[in-house]
Amino acid sequence: MKTWSRKEFLKASLIGGGAALVAGHSRLYGAAAPSGSANGDVRLGIIGFNAQGWGHLQNYLPGSRTKLDGAVLAAICDVDDAVLAKGRDAATKAGLKVAEYKDYRKMIESKDVDAVLIATPNHQHSIMTIMALQAGKDVYVEKPLSHNIWEGRQAVEAAKKHASKNIALIGTQNRSSEQIMNAIAAVRSGKFGKLKWVTGTCYKPRDSIGLHEGPQAVPAGLDYDLWTGPAPLTPPTRNGPKGTVHYDWHWFWNYGGGDITNQGIHQMDVARWMLGAQGLPKSVMSFGGRFGYRDDAETPNTLVSVLTYDTAPLIFEVRGLGRKKGMRAMDVYRKSSVGVVAQCENGYVNIAENGGAIAYDNDGKKLEAFEGADNGAHRKNWIKALQSRKVTHGLLEEGHYSTSLCHLANLSFLAGAEKANAQLADAVASDFASKDAYWRMLDHLKANEVDLDVTKPIVGPLLKVDAKTETLVHADKVIADAANNHALRKRTGRKGFEIPQIA
Ligand SMILES: NC(=O)c1ccc[n+]([C@@H]2O[C@H](COP(=O)([O-])OP(=O)(O)OC[C@H]3O[C@@H](n4cnc5c(N)ncnc54)[C@H](O)[C@@H]3O)[C@@H](O)[C@H]2O)c1
Repeated sequence: MKTWSRKEFLKASLIGGGAALVAGHSRLYGAAAPSGSANGDVRLGIIGFNAQGWGHLQNYLPGSRTKLDGAVLAAICDVDDAVLAKGRDAATKAGLKVAEYKDYRKMIESKDVDAVLIATPNHQHSIMTIMALQAGKDVYVEKPLSHNIWEGRQAVEAAKKHASKNIALIGTQNRSSEQIMNAIAAVRSGKFGKLKWVTGTCYKPRDSIGLHEGPQAVPAGLDYDLWTGPAPLTPPTRNGPKGTVHYDWHWFWNYGGGDITNQGIHQMDVARWMLGAQGLPKSVMSFGGRFGYRDDAETPNTLVSVLTYDTAPLIFEVRGLGRKKGMRAMDVYRKSSVGVVAQCENGYVNIAENGGAIAYDNDGKKLEAFEGADNGAHRKNWIKALQSRKVTHGLLEEGHYSTSLCHLANLSFLAGAEKANAQLADAVASDFASKDAYWRMLDHLKANEVDLDVTKPIVGPLLKVDAKTETLVHADKVIADAANNHALRKRTGRKGFEIPQIA
């Protein structure tokens, strides 16, 4: 593999009209610049660019419709040769010759990269963030921040430790939506009466990924050891429309956390923000299952979680099945399929997936649409953060808490057991928020011809949260241990990919 000296890199970057690219931008890293950075555009290295990363990559290609001023692609890293080739071609077409890596550890050591953008699967976000900061790079890390609570905390502490030199930002783009900021300010001011509860809905169609026997083949040209990183090295056991490795990792506990940690983290983040909550909840309880089909995946496609805060309860609902059996259209709860509903005494505020926000009265009549930029502003705010050396939108610590809420919800589910439907009904009977969500889930499953009296739900215990140690508490030691020892609470990483301990 070719590695580039800074001199070679600058020379090689200047294919065709590329000369102006490097020469023409010297405004970014000024006096506050981290030592060793270039006197020009921020030189960005991207790690993982199959799908989400591919959109990011366009932001750094000269001539691209979505090019962001102030930063340019300098290096690409992916463990899949096919993805690397796609990136190389795109860069060449844009007049750039970029350095190529399969091993991110080599990229982050490069003197020719100032900042890295991480869009790999979730289980590598924290380790890459920490190592990049330790190597003196600025970081944009896609959501969620972590695969488990402990490593997320390490990433936050690394960001704090390196804050005088390097910045780190998380890609929860709703944090840059002025519409959401204005809506949250209105709710918190009491404009619609007292806030009663906040519900996050992640109703998104998720089909079966198919059922396969035994280990599946890794595509040629994909370094599976590097892809696996800190997770246990086991062969893929899926082979859906996206193949054996990419994307469907979301539905396997070693790498993802199901849709609550995939799409849901965005809504979880807004819901927690809406509550004005500073950190972890007091307790969590979840119930659900993987209903409607049998496939290779492990994570629930139906989940209700109730997280308690002093302000108001936060209810989170995942539904992967449609409105009724055979239908792809999704349920709607107070005008929300993928969104957040802040229920107040005199109406509710609905935050949409794209960061828009509208208030309604309790009869569903529109009261107000909140103004301002939507969540598309986030990527520009990253460039502003690079310039000002200050993160204002997408703080890692906020990302850590919201990501941890998803992990907590899953941990209650994982510490749970199959129970009869009647037992679940009993378990939620005394709590209005859980009961309401339970009855709506039941209707949804009935419409999908899932009978909980036949297919038993998993019912998780009510786990208390020790916010100081970021651990779980339960009177039954077996349950407490099951939650605290699960890899979604803490996993230090496979040999060679140990997560650096900072705190
Ligand atoms: N902010 C958003 O709205 C949003 C939207 C979609 C996805 N995402 C996030 O983006 C990330 C990527 O999602 P995706 O759908 O593109 O997943 P994907 O599986 O399709 O792509 C991941 C890419 O990372 C590469 N990769 C894996 N391990 C690597 C390693 N060690 N070094 C370098 N490359 C490696 C893979 O080969 C692949 O090309 C996820 O964490 C996801 O949560 C965010």
